[in-house]
Amino acid sequence: MTNDNNENKDSKSNKDIDEFTGIETTGHDWDGIKELNNPAPRWWLWVFYVCVIWSVWYWVIYPAWPILSGNTKGTSGYTQFKELAASQSEIVARQQVYLDRFENGSLNEIMNDPELYAFAMAGGKSMFKDNCATCHGTGASGSEGYPNLNDDDWLWGGRISDIQQTISYGIRADNDDTRISQMPAFGKEGYLKSEEIEAVVDYVLSLSGSDITSTNEHGKTIFAQQCSACHGENAKGLQEFGAPNLTDKIWLYGGDREDIFNTVYNSRAGMMPAWKDRLDENTIKQLSIYLHQLGGGE
Ligand code: HEC
Ligand code: HEC
Repeated sequence: MTNDNNENKDSKSNKDIDEFTGIETTGHDWDGIKELNNPAPRWWLWVFYVCVIWSVWYWVIYPAWPILSGNTKGTSGYTQFKELAASQSEIVARQQVYLDRFENGSLNEIMNDPELYAFAMAGGKSMFKDNCATCHGTGASGSEGYPNLNDDDWLWGGRISDIQQTISYGIRADNDDTRISQMPAFGKEGYLKSEEIEAVVDYVLSLSGSDITSTNEHGKTIFAQQCSACHGENAKGLQEFGAPNLTDKIWLYGGDREDIFNTVYNSRAGMMPAWKDRLDENTIKQLSIYLHQLGGGE
């Protein structure tokens, strides 16, 4: 046995054995550095072979390789588009059962049928997100100029049929059946002097229980003459004119003295688009039921 180059020679098999580790070498030698013959474990090799076979199978069956004209299609004809279409048609088929009953059911029937009601609520919720949340907010809680649809305070009426009409034809929108009414710009158009506006604003502030509790006869008279036709004699609002209740503390355009002064001086005229040409009848029905429930509808 020699001891050259840190190596033993197994005399029987003529193999190179590394002196330090006792492991056979491959016989490769780089300036005296030898490579140990440590093959990968068997289980690892098997996993590797299985992966190779599986990937070849995958390339044949499924769309896989990019080519100039697109990609290899695979023998199974699978595409994600087909899968999507299949699951969509499954959903449509499932909905169709409800849709037929929903379409033909009266509002009353729908409200009293838990299944149809749930169907309407789910549809209404998602259609609201898609179409209405931009203005009314995701939770339908509104913002300045855009009414909160969660409270039971309705400008134009909170029965389902009222809501349905509002959604279909809009408010001050571009069609003959839209809801319309116009508060005059009392200051800008010169119907009232600034001093008279101040007085009526004081009166309006006193109605919603703010600190101004002056028994403001001047303001009260002006209100009776100029405002009560739309807002009602008790100032609780008239839905046929979309004129809000001025005695609650809910303000569409702000309840500070300055906000109310601006409202009376310049008028306000919120606009909501009509949806009858954009959404189908079922969707509008679903939205109406959804909002009715949200607002604890009338
Ligand atoms: C471009 C903004 C905008 C969009 C989009 C919009 N709205 Fe409105 N909506 C308004 C405004 C502004 C008002 C208040 C009009 C007014 O001052 O009388 C309103 C009022 C309403 C009212 C009446 C509330 C009441 O108190 O009587 C209902 C109901 C309503 N919207 C439902 C919807 C639904 C449902 C959708 C979606 C299909 C929708 N809105 C989309 C702006 C919008
Ligand atoms: C022709 C009908 C009409 C008359 C007259 C009228 N209003 Fe209005 N008023 C409305 C309507 C409609 C609105 C709601 C506007 C909107 O939703 O954009 C409104 C809104 C308001 C608001 C805003 C309420 C809020 O929630 O922000 C105030 C305040 C108000 N009116 C006060 C008055 C006062 C004071 C007078 C009399 C000097 C008056 N209005 C006369 C129709 C009228």
